[in-house]
Amino acid sequence: MNKNNQPAWLNNAIFYEIYPQSFNDSNGDGIGDFQGIIEKLDYIKNLGCNAIWMNPCFASPFGDAGYDVSDYYSAAPRYGTNEDLRRLFGEVHKRNMHILLDLVPGHTSVEHKWFRESMKAEKNQFTDRYVWTDSIWEEPQGMGCIRGISDRDGSCAVNFFSHQPALNYGFYKPDPDKKWQQSMDSEGPKASLEELKNIMRFWLGMGCDGFRVDMAGSLVKHDEEGKGTIRLWQNVREFLNQEFPQAAMVSEWGEPDKSLQGGFHMDFLLHFGPSHYNDLFRCEEPYFSNRGKGDISEFVAKYKENYEKSERKGLICIPSGNHDMDRLARLIHGDNLKIVFAFLLSMPGAPFIYYGDEIGMRYVENLTSVEGGYNRTGSRTPMQWDDTTNAGFSSAPKEMLYIKQDESVDRPTVEAQMEDENSLYNEIRKIISIRQAHEALQSNAEIEFVYAEKNAYPFTYLRSGEREKILVILNPASREETFECEYDLKKKIYGFGGEISVEGNRIVIPACSVGFYKI
Ligand code: NOJ
Repeated sequence: MNKNNQPAWLNNAIFYEIYPQSFNDSNGDGIGDFQGIIEKLDYIKNLGCNAIWMNPCFASPFGDAGYDVSDYYSAAPRYGTNEDLRRLFGEVHKRNMHILLDLVPGHTSVEHKWFRESMKAEKNQFTDRYVWTDSIWEEPQGMGCIRGISDRDGSCAVNFFSHQPALNYGFYKPDPDKKWQQSMDSEGPKASLEELKNIMRFWLGMGCDGFRVDMAGSLVKHDEEGKGTIRLWQNVREFLNQEFPQAAMVSEWGEPDKSLQGGFHMDFLLHFGPSHYNDLFRCEEPYFSNRGKGDISEFVAKYKENYEKSERKGLICIPSGNHDMDRLARLIHGDNLKIVFAFLLSMPGAPFIYYGDEIGMRYVENLTSVEGGYNRTGSRTPMQWDDTTNAGFSSAPKEMLYIKQDESVDRPTVEAQMEDENSLYNEIRKIISIRQAHEALQSNAEIEFVYAEKNAYPFTYLRSGEREKILVILNPASREETFECEYDLKKKIYGFGGEISVEGNRIVIPACSVGFYKI
């Protein structure tokens, strides 16, 4: 454990997100699998990543890419068996890496046996496992619902798509006039929570290193300030402290001040919620585009607020992207992608690289939705390894791929980028090795923003470790920029683009360039 009560390995963890169905198909059936992932672990390690987050890999009808679980205790047969998954954990550990599974605590698939039982009119062990009203004519207020498909007289709340019924962890303040709203301490919600711990116990016991937790802030209902949900996760934290103190917990919550109170180690900034994450790479004028018309100031203001509220713990993860948002390379192009990674890899908290972002994989436009992807489908296409059949993803005939691939002739591939010393892939490797060699650039070292003005460039911050301080200067704009600086730039440890120079008390940063300096 380190000073922030995290498993020590998180301090220099660099995550690689694997979307298992699209990563590597080892048996030629057109869909990725565990063995395929095992075969690419050396690739991930060689890039410099030492940790993996794998999207849901459990039994599921895949109406939401596996976020609709039908059995929490079984691997999806299309990926392999539980034993194959155990083998994957072993192979990860052999390489001194760690792996987080994706835990979906809030809802199941309608096909889950708990839900089938819960739909029955006769009372049984699963009657209170989900959030049901007590009449088909009453809808759960503020939530979507499933109605009219059960013998049971009631409507069942849903969390996301209408085939994802909400598990019952209770209401923060149940309405006394609505008997179906159960308190967090009633039997049904308590049983759901114990079952959640059993699921965690099962996979942690088998060797996974922790979880990324789906919609972690949404479990207790009518809980606007998150107080009930925080209490629930504190209960989970006690269980983990006793049984699995080394397990790492990363939340999809987007409000670090709350999630960290709940005992999570890190929280994501995301494309929804108040973080201004989209200002960076995904809005009309992204800050990191070379057009140089973006604004970083609101992102920084929100970041600082979160950082202070979470007691200056460097535990906010800023992902390059993920399976829910447009590919990074949709709006950011060319060398600016390198500047993006200089930023992501020099910020506090563990960086997360979405598979394929390291080679600038593109968002594939106009795809028909696959597995509940809708507009997300274009960011979930198969990994492009080389120039062989299906870009090396699968040996299946092209029509058998479960999802279409980027078919453009100039699509980036791993093989080509490995050979090109100026590629994005090679630049990312270089920046990762710089981060790993300097404690001041890692997860828990402090950050202070030096220049992050409204509608202005460059963007500059200071990272302070126990033994050194590093000033990071980023200029994504395609024009020279300057700023006034009180620091003496002693030694350059990394740079990209033209040479940064000092003129009096001003620093001059060439167009599209980056410099990391010891001060
Ligand atoms: C967030 C996941 O990242 C997303 O892919 C999923 O559709 C929803 N949660 C529902 O589980």
